[in-house]
Amino acid sequence: MKKRILTGDRPTGRLHLGHYVGSLRNRVKLQDEYETFIMVADVQALTDNFEHPEKLKENIREVVLDYLSVGIDPAKATIFVQSKVPEIAELTVFYMNLVTLARLERNPTVKDEMKQKGYGSNVPLGFLAYPVSQAADITFLKADLVPVGVDQVPMIEQTREIVRKFNELYGKVLVEPEALVGEVERLPGTDGKAKMSKSLGNVINLADDSETIRKQVMGMFTDPNRVHGDEPGETEKNPVFVYLRAFADRGQSEKVAEIESKYKKGDIKDVEVKEFLVEVLEEFLEPIRKKREEFERQKDLVDRILEEGTRKAREEAKKTLAEVKQAMKIDYF
Ligand code: TRP
Repeated sequence: MKKRILTGDRPTGRLHLGHYVGSLRNRVKLQDEYETFIMVADVQALTDNFEHPEKLKENIREVVLDYLSVGIDPAKATIFVQSKVPEIAELTVFYMNLVTLARLERNPTVKDEMKQKGYGSNVPLGFLAYPVSQAADITFLKADLVPVGVDQVPMIEQTREIVRKFNELYGKVLVEPEALVGEVERLPGTDGKAKMSKSLGNVINLADDSETIRKQVMGMFTDPNRVHGDEPGETEKNPVFVYLRAFADRGQSEKVAEIESKYKKGDIKDVEVKEFLVEVLEEFLEPIRKKREEFERQKDLVDRILEEGTRKAREEAKKTLAEVKQAMKIDYF
């Protein structure tokens, strides 16, 4: 039997290059080897967007189109919508008993997000508890592997703890999953900040057009200590080089190495490196854009994929929920 993957994204906007290197690339690579499920996490998206639920509908469609355009194949991977699998919510309620408030408050990703949103002690309960609901997302499928960006590793850790606790208390029903992080763990923003984030405006979307790509790349942060093009520069943390290394294909990798060595010696201007990055990104993104257009033209395609995927996911959810209730001895009649 094939091992299982479950992963997903919040439908709050289009997916960007950071999503690609963190997780999408692994999903595409592994969809043959693993039985893959990909969830559009609309319920989780509500935890910090509950005042604007109308945002979700359009973005669910955009996210699915992004999946298809990077090569996720609905014939291999099951794509579904979280809110249409209500068993996840039911599991979440049972798991809430297995997690303390103190434990949730220690989650480093939740901590960062809370700070960013300025919640303080007025944090909505749903937001603070989203790692518990994420454990339900992963375990209803008994997923073995969860390809995610490095920020999500604490959520998998939390899931593993819940699984261990559940199995210890009620009997071995759930599966402990592992996280799988992309080779490039985290893509910095175009502004050099630690990560790409829509709210910071430092992203390049998978669906961006050539003009936008050029503008974003030309405005990119480089080595802040290099004032003139003839000074030796740093390439390790310089985001332009991080992107080059992440997106150059085999045929371009020699040129990347050459440019890198020139940069370190002060033999090349930043603008020339950026020109090359535009070329590399164009080569990477053009086929993705083309595919997206093709899928956009097929009316009802996204709805069909989601309906079929959700039906399949829900069957699995019902099975797991029945086992969970039996183990908990609450399957009364
Ligand atoms: N928290 C993830 C994110 O913000 C999205 C997500 C929800 C997820 N449920 C999941 C990822 C289950 C992996 C597994 O990107």
